[in-house]
Amino acid sequence: MGSATHTPDVMEGDAKVRVLVVDDEEFLRSIVRERLEIAGYSVEEASNGTEALSMLESSGPYNVLLTDIRMPVMDGITLLGEWGKRSPGTAGIVMSANAELDTAVHALKMGACDYITKPFNFDVLLITIENALRKKDLERQLDDYRTNLEAKVKEQTDIINSMYVRSIDAMIKALEAKDFYTRGHSQRVTLYSVAIAEELGMKGQELEDLYRASVLHDLGKIGVREAVLNKPGKLSEEEFAEIVRHPETAVRILEPIPFFRPLLPAILHHHERFDGKGYPSHLAGASIPLASRIMTIADTFDAMTSTRAYRQALPIADAIAEIRRCSGTQFDPDIVPAFLACQSKIVIPGDVSLPEGFEEAIPFEYRQQPN
Ligand SMILES: [Fe+2]
Repeated sequence: MGSATHTPDVMEGDAKVRVLVVDDEEFLRSIVRERLEIAGYSVEEASNGTEALSMLESSGPYNVLLTDIRMPVMDGITLLGEWGKRSPGTAGIVMSANAELDTAVHALKMGACDYITKPFNFDVLLITIENALRKKDLERQLDDYRTNLEAKVKEQTDIINSMYVRSIDAMIKALEAKDFYTRGHSQRVTLYSVAIAEELGMKGQELEDLYRASVLHDLGKIGVREAVLNKPGKLSEEEFAEIVRHPETAVRILEPIPFFRPLLPAILHHHERFDGKGYPSHLAGASIPLASRIMTIADTFDAMTSTRAYRQALPIADAIAEIRRCSGTQFDPDIVPAFLACQSKIVIPGDVSLPEGFEEAIPFEYRQQPN
C-alpha cells in the first residue's frame, strides 16, 4: 500500500485533512474509511447527497468530498452542484463504475477535481486524493495572487490619483494666492452645490463627481491675468473675454488626466444659463449637465454674497430674491426650489472657509447686511 508515504501530505497546519465519504453502500464506506484513517485522514460518512449536505452544514468545512454517483434521495452529480455553491474550496472526487464514464465526465464539468473507477486500488485512491488537494491548493494560491494583484493595482491607482489631486490642489492654492477676493469661493460653492444636490436626492458616484467638479470649477482662472481678476472697475471687452475663457482653460488643464475626465462637462458648462444665453456653448435647459445647473446657482449665490474687488456683498435676502427672480431664465426652475429648501443647511456657522479679516469670515446668519 505504501500509505505511510502519503502521511505528511494529509496534515493541514495542526489539523488532519477531513474527508467525507458519500456512498449508499455501507461496506464500501467503511472500508474506504478504514484505509483513509490508516493513511492519516479524518474521515466521516454519509449515505446520500442530502445527508452529506446536512453534515456540511453542521460540521463542515471538509477538505475532500469523495462521492458515489448513483445514490437514493440525492445523487452525486446533484450533490456536487449543491456542494460547490456552499463550499467551493472542497476537492470533490467522484467514485464511479466503468459503465458510468459519461456521468464521471459530467461530474468533472460540475466542478469535481477528479474521478476514480470502482473497484479501485487504495494506493490509486490515495494518489487521487493528494492530487485533488494539490489542485485545490494551487487554485487557492492563484485566487490569492489575483486578489493581491487587484489590491496592489488599486493601491497604485489610488497613489497616482492622490498625486494628481495634490498637484491640482496646489494649482487651486496658486489661484487663490493671486485672486484674493475669491479665496474660499470654491469651498463655499462646493458646500452649497452638495446641499442642493442632496436636496434633489443625488447620491453615490454622481454626488461625488459633483463635489469634485465644484472644487475645481474655477481652476481655469489660473489662466486669467491677476490685474483682470482683481480689477476694481468695469472690465473692458477684451478683459471680459479673458474671464469667459476660464471654463475651457480648466478643461484643458484637467483633460490629460483620466481621473478628472468624468468631471469635465460639469466644469465646462458651469456658466451656461437655462435660457441659452450663457457661455461657452450657449446650451439651454436640460442639455446643460445637471451638475452645472446646480453649480451655477451655488456659484451665483456665493458671488452675490461675497465682497469682490468691484462691489460689496449683497444682503442674503437680496441674493435669494435674485435667484428666485432668475428662475427659468438664468437658472433651472426645477432646481431653484431645492436651493430655497436647503437654505437652512447651507448657512451653517463655521462651515465655510474664508480669508481672515474679511467680512465674509462672519457666518452668514450673524452677518449684519448693509442696506
Ligand atoms: Fe466660474
